[in-house]
Amino acid sequence: MVTADTNKSRRSFLSFLTSALMALLGLLIAIPAVRYIFGPLRAKSGAGPGFVDVGPLADIPAGEWRLVSVEVVHEDGWRKTRVRHAIWVRREDGEGSQGITVFSSICPHLGCPINWHPDQSRFFCPCHGGIFDPTGNQTGGPPPRPMDSLEFEVRAGRLWVRWQDFKIGVAERVPVNV
Ligand code: FES
Repeated sequence: MVTADTNKSRRSFLSFLTSALMALLGLLIAIPAVRYIFGPLRAKSGAGPGFVDVGPLADIPAGEWRLVSVEVVHEDGWRKTRVRHAIWVRREDGEGSQGITVFSSICPHLGCPINWHPDQSRFFCPCHGGIFDPTGNQTGGPPPRPMDSLEFEVRAGRLWVRWQDFKIGVAERVPVNV
């Protein structure tokens, strides 16, 4: 015999079951949405810019300084920006990573672009007369430190460079995240 109490407890159980199923369904829908929204922030936090493919080493004439443009992609959450930077690259004879030098073209004084003058075998900064020798050491003018060298790798005959900004106007090389 079904009593009023039995009916009441059955309704309560069904109500509880429905609520539990709805909560589970909501959770199943919410998890992918939360991962989609916050995934990029989690994946990119603290990550610096990576290596950029500069091209075949063979394209850089041995024994000469070559100004090369590299495009660096900065990712900040969902925002992606592309910035072009100029780097000075030199390689001596050979295929390996030995004898390769890579400098940022940004002057460590106040950030002007540095130029190579092959007739004088010197780098010059046009803004305030900064002078650097072929190894990047400052030999004249106001730059407070040598030219900034950049990290690189040679992979399958191609040059990869990790772009890095440095604080300008100071004697120490202080990496700056952008
Ligand atoms: S910015 Fe290069 S010498 Fe001043």
